[in-house]
Amino acid sequence: MSNAFVSLTDLTLSYGQTVAVPDLNLDVLEGELIALLGPSGCGKTTTMRAIAGLLTPTSGRIVIDGLDVTRTPANKRGIGLVFQSYALFPHLSAFENVAFGLRLLKLPNAQVRARTEAGMATVGLTGFETRKPAEMSGGQQQRLALARSLVMEPKVLLLDEPLSNLDARLRLEMRNELQRVQKDTGITMVFVTHDQSEALALADRIVLMKDGKIEQLGTPAELYAKPATAFAADFMGFENIFRVEGSELVSHLGRLSVGYEAKVHMLAWRPSGVGVGTGPHTGRVISSSFAGGHREYVLNSPLGQIKADAPIETPEVPIGHEVAFDLPMATARSLAA
Ligand SMILES: Nc1ncnc2c1ncn2[C@@H]1O[C@H](COP(=O)(O)OP(=O)(O)OP(=O)(O)O)[C@@H](O)[C@H]1O
Ligand SMILES: [Mg+2]
Repeated sequence: MSNAFVSLTDLTLSYGQTVAVPDLNLDVLEGELIALLGPSGCGKTTTMRAIAGLLTPTSGRIVIDGLDVTRTPANKRGIGLVFQSYALFPHLSAFENVAFGLRLLKLPNAQVRARTEAGMATVGLTGFETRKPAEMSGGQQQRLALARSLVMEPKVLLLDEPLSNLDARLRLEMRNELQRVQKDTGITMVFVTHDQSEALALADRIVLMKDGKIEQLGTPAELYAKPATAFAADFMGFENIFRVEGSELVSHLGRLSVGYEAKVHMLAWRPSGVGVGTGPHTGRVISSSFAGGHREYVLNSPLGQIKADAPIETPEVPIGHEVAFDLPMATARSLAA
């Protein structure tokens, strides 16, 4: 790709004899926020470590901003890192934590001050200069870690699950903050998460990984609406996935005649795509939970468990009772693999 800013070409990453990431190819565009998404152990951190220069590839090439950096040491790559553990200096003030890297560069004092103040302002921490990290909230410490990386004006900022220590509200706040900072600074960012909603909310494009390989690459809208495989569909919330044989759906527990023929390998439904209260099939309610705008049911069916969401306006079906349900073709996602 012509305007790729970070290019990973035929990259193989190993720990001793164990290949964690075989033959990865990925182009990140300038100013783009890419999310690496996938289950534990799929190679997200390994990929980040290779981009950062903390892990030497077994084979392949890494190009950043037109320069082959495959053999370039980590501190010469112009990369910023923010990890899950913020690794702030506890004995230094917030200001000195942010200024630390700039002081190492032996920049004049006035410049260190100006860049540090600007960095703290960017993440909304003006006024916190004299606090020690221990005197700040988790979210503030997280933002401090972000500011510390930003003031170094990296070409690329790598963030490895930087929000996973935060509570739900702070996570949302930091998500917005990160997105704003990224748009304001235009820094190319690679963001690791195993939380699909975080990836969907933040990323320009999502790289869904499985076993060290790219399972699917696309915009959040593409991945959300059009997962290509059962693995991707499952990750994107299509919790009901069944094989198709003629006009029957098949699971390892049984089969269900649906009355339509889909010439595909598998069909998948989100809970919101399953009809409850009407439909040609019958299931028994095995759990029912209030979820604000809707009610989440788990139904026992000939196919095993079906997850179905019903509008909160419809009367609740008690646990143990039978209820009609539908797996309509209209809300199904067709899967080839
Ligand atoms: N230092 C190491 N030595 C040997 N194997 C490792 C090492 N670090 C990671 N691995 C293995 O490499 C594979 C990829 O690990 P990696 O840390 O990249 O996963 P991850 O996607 O970041 O997972 P998580 O979401 O749990 O952080 C895993 O199978 C893991 O066991
Ligand atoms: Mg990891």
